[in-house]
Amino acid sequence: MRTYLVTGGAGFIGSNYIHYMFKKYGDSIRIINVDVLTYAGNLENLKDVENRDNYIFIKADITDKDAISKIFETYDIDRVVHFAAESHVDRSIKNPEVFVQTNVLGTAVMLNSAKAAWELPDGGYKPDKRFLHVSTDEVYGSLTNDDEYFYETTPYAPHSPYSASKAGSDMLVKAYMDTYKFPANITNCSNNYGPYQFPEKLIPLMINNCLQGKNLPVYGDGKNVRDWLYVEDHAKAIDMVQEQGRLFETYNIGGHNEKQNIEIINIIIETLREILPDSDPRKAHITKDLITYVEDRKGHDRRYAIAPDKIGAEIGWKPETMFKEGIKLTIKWYIEHEEWMKNVTSGDYQKYYSEMYKD
Ligand code: NAD
Ligand code: TYD
Repeated sequence: MRTYLVTGGAGFIGSNYIHYMFKKYGDSIRIINVDVLTYAGNLENLKDVENRDNYIFIKADITDKDAISKIFETYDIDRVVHFAAESHVDRSIKNPEVFVQTNVLGTAVMLNSAKAAWELPDGGYKPDKRFLHVSTDEVYGSLTNDDEYFYETTPYAPHSPYSASKAGSDMLVKAYMDTYKFPANITNCSNNYGPYQFPEKLIPLMINNCLQGKNLPVYGDGKNVRDWLYVEDHAKAIDMVQEQGRLFETYNIGGHNEKQNIEIINIIIETLREILPDSDPRKAHITKDLITYVEDRKGHDRRYAIAPDKIGAEIGWKPETMFKEGIKLTIKWYIEHEEWMKNVTSGDYQKYYSEMYKD
């Protein structure tokens, strides 16, 4: 039975990946989820898998060398899928240090522990071991509307403390591959959306605010462009890269679905109005009047856009979920999971929200 060590599996993409993997492989794999459960990690995201015999949760910090080495000593890990990170640009602008700590140092600990467990006396590695580092397109910087796309060969030019720390972590993985021939891959993906995303990111924040009748805070002119991918398509791409990708390669993953933020917000308003019955009292206040332009994010990247040509040509992956369909699924999920939203927005979230959007 192949054993996966997933870091950050209680977060948005990690929990969707774990669901995807159990759906695909059932009892033929074992998943060990290592997560320290920051504000973004939530075991409720994994309720339907927690009782499986082939699922183990370990609460540990990826910067804790002893804890991570012990996991590698206890279990014969075949695959590492490394999601754990601080992931929110706005938080990185307010508090950069924890991003360096988790994203850079944490990745170094993961690489070192895996290398120690997998390395053979002759400098080679035990057979069929692979490490996949999950990264972002934000490491490539910002495009203008006239530029083409980010390719795997695009030079790194990160701007935010978040993207700089992810770039640092990518560079470490590259260094391990170059120096030690460490069996790894890097994936750089565009913006994800779907179930279980914490409502500090654009799409769930706007859905939640609409349902609560709160203002919809649009940064700057609302014309920044992101390339949105449904999270399950990302999970599938990660699995395909790990099983079919060439070792030591980087693969860009993207939805070919560029939208301005303001377009996204208008789609959310329209879709909610379409889905909610007239009898729902929330429907009356879900209108464009909620849209409120606020101060721009510092150093706000204008446009991200991925060319997923390499992963398409080499591995045959392509985005499958059309945005129209994915956003409907996502909005329905949030409507049906009011309790989840209530739980994640109680406590610290209120404090974060009032500090972030105080003006
Ligand atoms: P998330 O913030 O929802 O989840 C991060 C998870 O990591 C949480 O469960 C958190 O508890 C855990 N974690 C944080 N610090 C930890 C530590 N020190 N030790 C152990 N666990 C820790 O993030 P996400 O959106 O699911 O992103 C997952 C990964 O994918 C990140 O590496 C991110 O950079 C990358 N990524 C995200 C997107 C996106 O659109 N969300 C796009 C491309 C790449
Ligand atoms: P976000 O979801 O934070 O992802 P990222 O910055 O990593 O791409 O933001 C997506 C876009 O939405 C980004 O251009 C910033 C913008 N945005 C707003 O306009 N208002 C908001 O309240 C948030 C959270 C984001």
